[in-house]
Amino acid sequence: MEALLLGAGLLLGAYVLIYYNLVKAPPCGGIVSLRGRTAVVTGANSGIGKMTALELARRGARVVLACRSRERGEAAAFDLRQESGNNEVIFMALDLASLASVRAFATAFLRSEPRLDILIHNAGISSCGQIREPFNLLLRVNHIGPFLLTHLLLPRLKTCAPSRVVVVASAAHRRGRLDFTRLDRPVVGWQQELRAYADSKLANVLFARELATQLEGTGVTCYAAHPGPVNSDLFLRHVPGWLRPLLHPLAWLVLRTPGGGAQTPLYCALQEGIEPLSGRYFANCHVEEVPPAARDDRAAHRLWVASKKLAGLGLGEDAESDEDPHPEDSGTPSSLSSPHPEEPTVSEPHPSPQSPP
Ligand SMILES: NC(=O)c1ccc[n+]([C@@H]2O[C@H](COP(=O)([O-])OP(=O)(O)OC[C@H]3O[C@@H](n4cnc5c(N)ncnc54)[C@H](OP(=O)(O)O)[C@@H]3O)[C@@H](O)[C@H]2O)c1
Repeated sequence: MEALLLGAGLLLGAYVLIYYNLVKAPPCGGIVSLRGRTAVVTGANSGIGKMTALELARRGARVVLACRSRERGEAAAFDLRQESGNNEVIFMALDLASLASVRAFATAFLRSEPRLDILIHNAGISSCGQIREPFNLLLRVNHIGPFLLTHLLLPRLKTCAPSRVVVVASAAHRRGRLDFTRLDRPVVGWQQELRAYADSKLANVLFARELATQLEGTGVTCYAAHPGPVNSDLFLRHVPGWLRPLLHPLAWLVLRTPGGGAQTPLYCALQEGIEPLSGRYFANCHVEEVPPAARDDRAAHRLWVASKKLAGLGLGEDAESDEDPHPEDSGTPSSLSSPHPEEPTVSEPHPSPQSPP
């Protein structure tokens, strides 16, 4: 009996140690009052996005929940207004799987919202579910849709600078490998989906990197943020029903809460002084080293050009040049030609705009 109690005590102690050191997220700090500022959070009706939007609303920002379902988006806006005591939380329709919907969102947003200070690309999928599209749905929702949205909203981000773009990426980018000959090929089956998810998250990290390069000197900075392993519906919604009662308690024990997962995206959106780290990847509210494939500036630029085509961006819709800034024969190592100090080496009327972050 004593041995049993001792074993249970040791197990509990080990769990508490693991929980506080590996599972629980450090809280973000950053700008306390966001009064007069506007933030857009995609996929904000659940999980990490909802908790991110809640914190922004608590700090006084006007928060636009960009969600694909009106019902879920309106319900989340209602909850967040109640919980934050901030009435400036609204829903706007955005389906990242549809380029037309992304354009419609941008048009409606630019028409009704005079400010954009923080853009958080949080929405994401890990599987196509029952949906069959003639394109790579994971890449479309996780990267191409956000890429197009960023382009369409950039003029407003620039006029509100200093402003920020946060791309919610994942440690899964470490397993990613971009094959530019078949970027948009539909994915079939769970193995291809897992691969495509990792590839799309690598695209997130490379996008933040290239965007930082393109936006140098504009006052708009961007960051890739890994929320950590989080107890959300992202993967659980796709496991068979009979397995869920087993997985839910396990997930509750060993994964972060969505609120914990929101801390690193919030850190990237709010922390003062991280502007020189624009383009970098953050986890646990710290800048983190990424593997060579995720700091390959030539691949990042190639992805940028390919993404423009896949997003249907025409000439004149992008002020930046497509010229390869990393020509083959330059002989310059990508890390040296990069502006990122990567290898560490280190719906209602709006209140009058106030000072930006
Ligand atoms: N959970 C983790 O362990 C983990 C780890 C690393 C990175 N991440 C990243 O964190 C982000 C948030 O994930 P989560 O864990 O909070 O998952 P989640 O609870 O499933 O949230 C995903 C959100 O994205 C929305 N969404 C899906 N498809 C969309 C579309 N076509 N257009 C617009 N919105 C769409 C979902 O809306 P519906 O409710 O309508 O489906 C939902 O609001 C994702 O980018 C994910 O890759 C998560």
